[in-house]
Amino acid sequence: MDIGGLKVGDHVVKEEGGRRHLIFACKDCPYGASIADDLHCRYHIISILSEVEADLIVLSEVYERVYSKDQTAMLAEIATMRQRLNVESVWSYAHLGKAGKECEQYFSERHDTLVKIAHDLLAFDPVLAYLTLLKEIKIEESKTQSQGKEYADCSKPYFDTLNLLKQRFTETTIILKTKDFLSKLREIPETSQLYHGIFEADVKPSFIGSRLMFKEMETLELLDEYTVKKATVQIFSHPGKPENLYFINPPEYTLSPEKYFVLSKTREIVAGYRPGKTSLSTVAKSRRYFERLYESTIKDVAKQNNIKLESDEIIELAAIVARYTVGYGILEILLSDRRLTDIYLDSPIGQKPLYVVHSEFGQCQTNILYTEGESNSLISKLRAMSGRPFDEAHPVLDFDLPDLDTRIAVIGPPLSPDGTAFAFRLHKVTPWTLTQFVDVNFLTPLAAGLLSFFIDMQATMLITGSRGSGKTSLLGACLLEIPQNARIIVQEDTLELPVPYMKKVGFNVQRLKTRSPISVSKTETEVAPEEALRTALRLGDSALVLGEIRSVEAKVLYEAMRVGAAGNIVIGTIHGDSAYSVWDRVVNDLGVQNTSFKATDIVVVARPIRFAGSLRRHKRVVQITEVKKHWSEDPEREGGLLDLMLFDAKKDELELIEDNLKESELFKKISKTSGLSMKQMWADIRMRAEATAFLVSLKNKHNLPKLLEAENTTVCKNKLILLKEQQLRESGKIDYEEMLGKWKYWVKNTFLQRFVDK
Ligand SMILES: Nc1ncnc2c1ncn2[C@@H]1O[C@H](COP(=O)(O)OP(=O)(O)OP(=O)(O)O)[C@@H](O)[C@H]1O
Ligand SMILES: [Mg+2]
Repeated sequence: MDIGGLKVGDHVVKEEGGRRHLIFACKDCPYGASIADDLHCRYHIISILSEVEADLIVLSEVYERVYSKDQTAMLAEIATMRQRLNVESVWSYAHLGKAGKECEQYFSERHDTLVKIAHDLLAFDPVLAYLTLLKEIKIEESKTQSQGKEYADCSKPYFDTLNLLKQRFTETTIILKTKDFLSKLREIPETSQLYHGIFEADVKPSFIGSRLMFKEMETLELLDEYTVKKATVQIFSHPGKPENLYFINPPEYTLSPEKYFVLSKTREIVAGYRPGKTSLSTVAKSRRYFERLYESTIKDVAKQNNIKLESDEIIELAAIVARYTVGYGILEILLSDRRLTDIYLDSPIGQKPLYVVHSEFGQCQTNILYTEGESNSLISKLRAMSGRPFDEAHPVLDFDLPDLDTRIAVIGPPLSPDGTAFAFRLHKVTPWTLTQFVDVNFLTPLAAGLLSFFIDMQATMLITGSRGSGKTSLLGACLLEIPQNARIIVQEDTLELPVPYMKKVGFNVQRLKTRSPISVSKTETEVAPEEALRTALRLGDSALVLGEIRSVEAKVLYEAMRVGAAGNIVIGTIHGDSAYSVWDRVVNDLGVQNTSFKATDIVVVARPIRFAGSLRRHKRVVQITEVKKHWSEDPEREGGLLDLMLFDAKKDELELIEDNLKESELFKKISKTSGLSMKQMWADIRMRAEATAFLVSLKNKHNLPKLLEAENTTVCKNKLILLKEQQLRESGKIDYEEMLGKWKYWVKNTFLQRFVDK
């Protein structure tokens, strides 16, 4: 927060995010800038709090210490109490004892004691003031006992005053919080430790908006620790919270004062060469350019101020400056942690910490409090980069940050009445493969074999599930099962599917980008999804992939499928939670006719499962269902939905429903078009399943995660296809066992060597 011009010890009240920040200028203050550590600091703050009202206290030094609403309220309570005692003048004559000569001998001492407790100590160290009061009460009690009735009479007003003070003290939160602990002590303790328990502040460098909270660390259990971009990440479980905690500690929050000086100076200087709005979209690309520019400024600043910096320190500082000028600030570190799948910034910003979804530890609360200021500057950056409007008339911004492999959705008022909110979805850097899904138990090998077979046999497939259930990821993995000689057309509104990667590993893919239906912008030049689909259909015989079916394009798609004009393979995702809900959505919401809907062969359902009531969610495929063709109104009532595989949560297994296979119309249809018998088809499916399981077991045996990456699984899959062709050429038929044996031999003895040698 900018407090330029304030002298040491001065204060100012600034409003941000609907809260009043009472900011103290503490740089060069001879006392420590900490409520817990320094009694002068406490005294100063409590004195000011009796004059001004504030929600938060900020001690601005090199770093800013920010004290929360509750902490501020605790100090304000003391300030009010002190002021009231002052008005009541509890140390005045009437409070010291009974009027009269005998009694007056005690007055001077009593006056001093009361002033000390109710005025001085109260502001320096309220806990000590309270303890001093208790001690005085004890002394008075024992004096009364030993000296008899006369003394008691004379002391009554004083004793009443002490008890009044005691009552006032015990009404304050600080004393309530520490009372139990204090009652167990025999001697007056070193109170600063107590204050540490109550007044731990959030810390942040002054030029960064986001605050980091480091509270109650000692009660937490550390689950994992790793580094991202030189920032330490710690995952904790909290005894009283269902979700885990994600604590990040970036280097810029713990720099030495000298480095911090260089950093803030450099930032001041380079603020001048910030690029204009128009060139912001190219900023991501020229990041290195800016970092180099900053490196030379840092060198100059360090030299002028006689600060010695090593070259790697200069590089580190330049990266930090870039992060807070042309980058995305502290968010950038989170976006670089690819173990996260989502980041949520809810409105109103600044009141709740950021939330993340960790691929291993589920939803976690972070220690980051983002600010409105940061959120506004992020929005202007996003606006410039996307070239799209974002205001009251266009309250939704939904697009891809390609440099960070992240999809971002922003909503603002009036849609989000409490202010702007952000959701970031971090894509996996490389696409998911079916083998990886088997490895993380999303699928069983048999399910992977079945899906791969259906795609090969040109079935029409819809993948459904709730938000974040893994639909798009599964669609991406299925794309990799399309034979590489096929031409693929991918249509999406946000570019999520791994098209560039697929091209790199040898697929023939054409991408069509359509207008996002949830963006309300009128000025966009992008093509509407239904128009794009008509174009796609004209592009000829191809596999057609629809990122997400959301609205009217469904009609165009199903009409084309019904008349057999939709190419050979059609796959896509759609929101829903079961095969039945997909039918309901497509027919009842999107207006597709029942007869057309029957062009769907398979519905795959993904769902996050909470095992045995645990709060952790595990992504699973829970249903693979065939859509049969002989029904007329409601597929469920008329037995039109045939489950081929169903999830059993007790066993954590997606099970084959063998009894249903006999009724399958799809297998019969495939048999007709391919000439394969039921036995051969299942031999083929099991071979694919075994091949998948084999790669997963090799990966685990050799600790080779790379083996399951698409670049490698595609090579292995192609080899299997080649072996099949070879067998057909040589003997006219396929021996699946023999073929699998040959393939395994090749994988182990030829393919694996690529990795083992290195
Ligand atoms: N089986 C899995 N195990 C762990 N993480 C997964 C799995 N499948 C997907 N993910 C991750 O979960 C996140 C959400 O996946 P994805 O985008 O595929 O979901 P979605 O259902 O398409 O979501 P949306 O409804 O928002 O479109 C991604 O970061 C992805 O990498
Ligand atoms: Mg999706």
